[in-house]
Amino acid sequence: MRIDKFLHAMRIGTRTQVRRLIKDGHITANGEPVISGKQQINPGSDAVFLDDEQVRYQQYFYYVMNKPVGVITATSDATAKTVMDLFNTTDYRDDLFPVGRLDKDTEGVLVITNDGALSHALLAPAHHVTKVYEAEVTGEITAAQVAGFNDGITLKDGTQLQPAQAEIVEFHEIEDFTTIRIMIHEGKYHQVKRMVGTLGERVVQLRRIKFGSLSLPVGLLAGNYRALSETELTALKRDANQPVTE
Ligand code: URA
Repeated sequence: MRIDKFLHAMRIGTRTQVRRLIKDGHITANGEPVISGKQQINPGSDAVFLDDEQVRYQQYFYYVMNKPVGVITATSDATAKTVMDLFNTTDYRDDLFPVGRLDKDTEGVLVITNDGALSHALLAPAHHVTKVYEAEVTGEITAAQVAGFNDGITLKDGTQLQPAQAEIVEFHEIEDFTTIRIMIHEGKYHQVKRMVGTLGERVVQLRRIKFGSLSLPVGLLAGNYRALSETELTALKRDANQPVTE
C-alpha cells in the first residue's frame, strides 16, 4: 500500500497535509526517512512513525453521531445533505456508513462505522438490539394507552409488532402535547411514528436517545460526532453477540 494512502486512511491528515508531513521529513518507515508518498509499505508489518509516535494500522473505525434534523441517513445523495457530509476531511473515509436508519426529521444517536460484520449483527432481528426514543406527540397520551404497546400491536397496514415498552414523561397541558419515552426491539419503517398513529395522534419531534447499550453522549451537540470509546465499542459488540477482545 502507498504510504500516503496509509497515513490518510489512519486519519493522520488530509491528502495535502500528509504530503506536507512527508516533504518536511516527519515520517519514517522502519527507521528510514520517507521521501515519497508513493513508497510502498506493508501496513501490518512495517513500523511507520510520525515523529516519535507510531502510526498503528487500524482496520475498523467507529463513531457515534448526534444526527441532526434535516440530513438523511445515507452515504451519498444527489441533492440532499447526508450524515456523511458532516464528517471532516480527516475523519472521512469512503467505506464508512451509518448503522441502520433514522428519518430525515429524526435526531439522535447514530453509529457510523466501516465494520460491516458489526453493523449486520446489530441490525439482525435475532439480537433485538433495543432502541429508546423520546417523542413529542400531539394531544394527551395516557399511561393506559401506551401500556397497550406491551402486547405487541398491529399497525394499520397489518404489520404485527413485537412488544414494546413506553412511558409518559410529561403532558404539556398548555401546548397540548405529550412527551413519551418508548423502547422498541426491532426497526420497522417509521415504526415509532406508526405506533403513535395507532393512538390517533402524531409525532411532532423524535429523538433516539439510546441504541443498544449506547446512550446519546452528554454534551454531543446535534450535527457533531466523535469516536466510540473502547468501553462503548465493547458494550456494542456484546449487544450484537460479537466476540470482544479484553
Ligand atoms: N421510528 C420512526 O418513526 N422514525 C425513525 O427515524 C426511527 C424510528
